[in-house]
Amino acid sequence: MKISFAGPRLPHAGTVAVSVADERKLLATAARLDEESGGNLTRAMAASKFKGRGEEVLAVLAPARLEVNRVLLYGIGKEGGGERVAWQNRGGHIVAQLNSAGEKTAAVALDQRDNEAQIAADLAYGARLRAYRFDKYRTKEKPENKPTLEELTIVVEDPAAAKRAFQPLEKVAEAVYFTRDLVSEPANVIYPETLAEQARSLEKLGVEVEVLDEKQMKKLGMNALLGVAQGSERPPRLVIMQWKGNPKARNPAPIAFIGKGVTFDTGGISIKPAGGMEDMKWDMAGAGVVIGLMRALAGRKAKVNVVGIGGLVENMPSGTAQRPGDIVTSLSGQTIEVLNTDAEGRLVLADALWYCQQRFKPQFMVNLATLTGAIIVSLGNEHAGLFSNNEELAERLIASGKRVGEKLWRMPLAEGYDKMIDSDAADVKNIGGREAGSITAAQFLQRFVNNVPWAHLDIAGTTWSKKDAPTVPKGATAFGLRLLDQLVAEHYEEG
Ligand code: BES
Ligand code: MN
Ligand code: ZN
Repeated sequence: MKISFAGPRLPHAGTVAVSVADERKLLATAARLDEESGGNLTRAMAASKFKGRGEEVLAVLAPARLEVNRVLLYGIGKEGGGERVAWQNRGGHIVAQLNSAGEKTAAVALDQRDNEAQIAADLAYGARLRAYRFDKYRTKEKPENKPTLEELTIVVEDPAAAKRAFQPLEKVAEAVYFTRDLVSEPANVIYPETLAEQARSLEKLGVEVEVLDEKQMKKLGMNALLGVAQGSERPPRLVIMQWKGNPKARNPAPIAFIGKGVTFDTGGISIKPAGGMEDMKWDMAGAGVVIGLMRALAGRKAKVNVVGIGGLVENMPSGTAQRPGDIVTSLSGQTIEVLNTDAEGRLVLADALWYCQQRFKPQFMVNLATLTGAIIVSLGNEHAGLFSNNEELAERLIASGKRVGEKLWRMPLAEGYDKMIDSDAADVKNIGGREAGSITAAQFLQRFVNNVPWAHLDIAGTTWSKKDAPTVPKGATAFGLRLLDQLVAEHYEEG
């Protein structure tokens, strides 16, 4: 689908989308078309439930006296149309409508005086985000099931300004596509080595990329991560990405994002049940989001210094696999009793977090992980779980999430929960029992955080969606990417 911005002239074919505010108030272009068609649009509204509310649409087919196929009335609610995310959702909604209607070309009239360029850009951004599909392996899809919309034009007073406003958003959308692709790929295609190669591809954007192999990690002492990987034929990797977008920064310390990259999680010897195990191809989404985030920041040349780290392993059962009861010495020196080999994400992150803070002394660390089934029991698919040792960081994350429509819900950390992972045989054990599963997982991570502001996002419930949302078609969501891009833009970019 091609998206463009054009000056105020409506096409005579395809669909024209025009806006209506609360109480069926037609904005300028809608009013003009209504008049040209002899009141056709007003009649159509009166015959329907359409009121012009924020996310409503009404399609009027073959409108009298007009040449276009269809006029799509879209509601904007209150005048101005609401927050930026509301315009993004609207763009997504319009695209979905037109695709299911079988339309090929469409023009959207905005009729917004204030903030027109930003609104146009947000509408385009939402349209782009919704148009994502992972269809590369579908060789026999019937043409009638494919999306039809080829061209979306947004009609504005000043197309050049809209285009400029869209530029950074387009880069973020490209990064979201990239992450969604990585997360959607099956585990026979994306495994630690190939995921590391994908991260390497960011070098052409100016990102510095290092990839540690098994031998290098062994030498460093990353035995927690290596223990998870040892059952697999696929060797593990640690990928380290640096974007130095602000060489003259006042504060030389970078900010850091760390992702769980388990390219397939069978559970290991503590093997998972067969039903639904295929979902565990997306157990690398944390790392997928971090890689995509680096692409977004480099793509839009963000003025910030960022480190991104992905701990990449495959968790398999085999003759060489880690056993329940094994004790490993992590990079931090702390010993871990591995009572359940399916609680592997925290083992990978323990070493990745420690490595990050020792090497980079970051201002803060945020890690993302599809860490626990228990967070889905707590929060479903509406919020990701947020755990943090720092009020300011937590509040900023929650606020950024609201801005972009990726919602977080803060969960507690406390000494009582921490006690639940004391081990009889080692410094810590990797499971805490049936209760408070997401919290004990977070407590485990916190034991590998040393006096640096830190937040953990448990994205197990928000990484993969079973139903379409306005800017997120079902499947891989890339949840966290837009949120963290927003966090960086709002608080950590200089100049
Ligand atoms: N990757 C899973 C968590 C998960 C489950 C993500 C479902 C997405 C959907 C994680 O490695 C895991 O297996 N966690 C266990 C922990 C338990 C053994 C303490 C879990 O949640 O059951
Ligand atoms: Mn697991
Ligand atoms: Zn896992």
